[in-house]
Amino acid sequence: MDYQAVLTEVWDAVLPVLGQGRVATYIPALAAVDPARFGMALATVEGDVYGVGDWRVPFSIQSISKVFTLALALSRDGDALWRRVGKEPSGNPFNSLVQLEYEQGIPRNPFINAGALVITDRLQRLTGDARGTLRDFLRAESGNPAVDFDAGIAASEAEHGHRNRALAHFMASYGNIEGSVPEVLEHYFWQCSLAMSCADLARACGFLARHGQRADGARLLTRSQAKQVNAVMLTCGTYDAAGEFAYRVGLPGKSGVGGGIIAVIPNRCALCVWSPGLDARGNSVAGVEALDRFTTLTGLSIF
Ligand code: DON
Repeated sequence: MDYQAVLTEVWDAVLPVLGQGRVATYIPALAAVDPARFGMALATVEGDVYGVGDWRVPFSIQSISKVFTLALALSRDGDALWRRVGKEPSGNPFNSLVQLEYEQGIPRNPFINAGALVITDRLQRLTGDARGTLRDFLRAESGNPAVDFDAGIAASEAEHGHRNRALAHFMASYGNIEGSVPEVLEHYFWQCSLAMSCADLARACGFLARHGQRADGARLLTRSQAKQVNAVMLTCGTYDAAGEFAYRVGLPGKSGVGGGIIAVIPNRCALCVWSPGLDARGNSVAGVEALDRFTTLTGLSIF
């Protein structure tokens, strides 16, 4: 398949929707980005990378980081991890507090903020340095040693992170945060601030397309664990829009409020698209449209 030609066709097709949606403003440092930017990259399991638009421009990965922290914690903790966090769609916004009290401080899934905070807590326990472990992993998988945190974004989120603080303290009251709450929050804010391009992220997701095998051939996840992460991405990766995303795109995907979305086609390739204009549920408008066009044009989906 001529991936470069397909990406160019997708880019043309999404031009009319570029600039639609709103950039996230609840983290003030994210609000400065032009909503009309657009980039898309595809990395094959063999290591070839294709891209269009701003595909080499780093952006704030935000909640996309949750996929990698889940994989890193699962690789060390195995099934024990699922005692601390569920694997069901929440049907609620990513930063919602309501379900947590009914469900005794056990978050519905690892991709809502509450679930990601539990995973970061676990990763910190397992490694002693959750954010450093994540950064090193992403540098290795993307092949880009320059991948790094954005201190301005991390500080902005720490300053305005009232909801995340509330979620973490609330879960601690149920005994579902083992470490110190401020330490967990700090690692979480730093992990969300990582700046990566579409090319970096498409490469970094390769292990999910290779059934758990890393770029150097070593195994991060078992085949079954890689299937589990992909399944949770499909059902929970775009929050209360996961049904619509599965319906339109037909691939496991994970969004972030920086405007990025990753998607995986097992055995074939990983994709990343970036455009900062978000819909009401925090997913990139042009990003979802581009992935929808990509799977429609190519006929590639998991279904
Ligand atoms: O914790 C937060 O609210 C942000 N750092 C990440 C949220 C996010 O990316 C949700 N994704 N669409």
